[in-house]
Amino acid sequence: MTIPNSIDEVQSTLASTGYVCGRALATVVFLSLKLGRPLFLEGEAGVGKTEIAKALAKSLNRRLIRLQCYEGLDASSAVYEWNFPAQMIAIRTAEAAGGSDRAALQTELFGPDYLIERPLLQAMRPDENGAPILLIDELDRTDEPFEAFLLEALSDFQVTIPEIGTIEAPEPPIVILTSNRTREVHDALKRRCLYHWVDYPKFGREVEILNARAPEVSETLSREIVAFVQSLRTEDIFKKPGVAETIDWAKCLLALDVVDLSPEVISDTLGAILKYQDDIAKIGGGEAGRLLDEARKSLEAV
Ligand SMILES: Nc1ncnc2c1ncn2[C@@H]1O[C@H](COP(=O)(O)OP(=O)(O)OP(=O)(O)O)[C@@H](O)[C@H]1O
Ligand SMILES: [Mg+2]
Repeated sequence: MTIPNSIDEVQSTLASTGYVCGRALATVVFLSLKLGRPLFLEGEAGVGKTEIAKALAKSLNRRLIRLQCYEGLDASSAVYEWNFPAQMIAIRTAEAAGGSDRAALQTELFGPDYLIERPLLQAMRPDENGAPILLIDELDRTDEPFEAFLLEALSDFQVTIPEIGTIEAPEPPIVILTSNRTREVHDALKRRCLYHWVDYPKFGREVEILNARAPEVSETLSREIVAFVQSLRTEDIFKKPGVAETIDWAKCLLALDVVDLSPEVISDTLGAILKYQDDIAKIGGGEAGRLLDEARKSLEAV
């Protein structure tokens, strides 16, 4: 599919996959597609950063290539590696067969058959559906040398493999980078990208997301769930629940045939929204009742 022609079209295309996208996010997505600039998304955990790349790939019918970042990730795991075990077997087989053409063997061993393509190289390969989407997920988990390497890779989209030559992307991939901001990503990299901070959604949008992701949950219960989670986020807790937790919790309540919230039900199911014992201990007692009252009041006001 071709890329959307307007911000509205971005919103409707993403909505077709169940991704609810506000105007500000839709605008940067549109600009990133239109200008061919990487999109850098930062935000709390579970607010839909990774999902946007998946939703875009699905709605535009493009291949999604994911580079999951972690501490110690290096260029070879990100771009290409030689299949060492297969090369060894080929050498042994050639030896056993008494092969003497060493030059031919060498060329073969460092040819396409023994090359393992990692995400960055895969993303440079042409695809009949159009440029793939390259998701560089959780960039803040890598270290600075890898970031510097990425900066180069993102600027020219070509890879030089000494034994094979230079491979260039016929059409650069659509790049989405995400970060949970456990550390600041370098300015030089940010400068190459369009930036958007993905915040927790406002009440109305979170209800919309819940309707899209868990349509079986009644409207009344959905609104109560969202109002409760939203008031929970204003509390001083160690790890605030993201949208992912809202959806999970709604599904748990549905499985328990809960019709409406009560302090007891909330206490029993807190493990779906809070993942730290200190937070659970804090909210599990009388706090759940108080927050529920607060949430119900805010619902009346809406
Ligand atoms: N705007 C949205 N529309 C639809 N679903 C959403 C939206 N935001 C979040 N979700 C849902 O929340 C879940 C978590 O989203 P996602 O994994 O993208 O979060 P994240 O920001 O990448 O979190 P993390 O930082 O932990 O990786 C997804 O499974 C998705 O279904
Ligand atoms: Mg993610």
